[in-house]
Amino acid sequence: MALLEVTNLVAGYGKVEVISDVSFTLEPGKSIGIVGPNGVGKSTLLQAIAGGIAPKGGTITFDGKNIAGKKPEDIVRLGLSLVPEGRQIFSGLTVRENLSLGLTGRRNKKGANEAILKVRELFPVLLTHENHQAGMLSGGQQQQLAIARALISEPKVLLLDEPSLGLAPTVITDVFDRLKEIIEMGTAVVIVEQRANLVTSFAEKTIVIRDGKVQSTLTSADAANSESLQRSYFGAGE
Ligand SMILES: Nc1ncnc2c1ncn2[C@@H]1O[C@H](COP(=O)(O)OP(=O)(O)O)[C@@H](O)[C@H]1O
Ligand SMILES: [Mg+2]
Repeated sequence: MALLEVTNLVAGYGKVEVISDVSFTLEPGKSIGIVGPNGVGKSTLLQAIAGGIAPKGGTITFDGKNIAGKKPEDIVRLGLSLVPEGRQIFSGLTVRENLSLGLTGRRNKKGANEAILKVRELFPVLLTHENHQAGMLSGGQQQQLAIARALISEPKVLLLDEPSLGLAPTVITDVFDRLKEIIEMGTAVVIVEQRANLVTSFAEKTIVIRDGKVQSTLTSADAANSESLQRSYFGAGE
């Protein structure tokens, strides 16, 4: 059974429908990519799943429960955690304090220390900078901190909104290597990316959003074929 099942999701702002019909499934421990041109509604889709905005239609079934319209803090405690676009760490707080904020997303206090230790092991650079202000970290380190904070709640599904944004290519490789480890440890991952190539070769499947709908589904074989990637990403004849 799918761990996350989004069916005919509708989402937007006020009377505006940005996402009009999006469906996909994600199995435990797997990964899915979401790509599409700027402004198409990728962040809106993640926000609707994570409870940042209330969906206008459709269902979101997580672990057998419909979570559509639930509050973000309830959704994170159920086991679905979002790393938002632009990371949104607190630059005036230390790395350690930023990580502690992830504790509020835990179902219970038991096991919190173990969760922090596990995250430290995964991101040793954060340990080095534990008492430094988060604003002093490099872009790649801040992204790692944002991911680490989301992992403190030990999510079953991690949603990431453009983790590569603003990072140098070698740093992107670093971040994606960490994501690979996270998936190997059993967490399922949803990655929104502008860089279609990057995520298509990484995730088991990638959906292309266009005009509010899933326009096509790509596999890693498509990543190798840049022509088919171009065609499905930008549409035929463009
Ligand atoms: N808080 C908001 N209020 C009103 N409109 C918004 C808001 N956030 C995004 N939008 C609009 O929704 C559309 C989709 O935005 P977004 O989901 O951020 O796209 P993407 O992440 O694919 O670049 C855009 O037209 C954007 O201007
Ligand atoms: Mg976005």
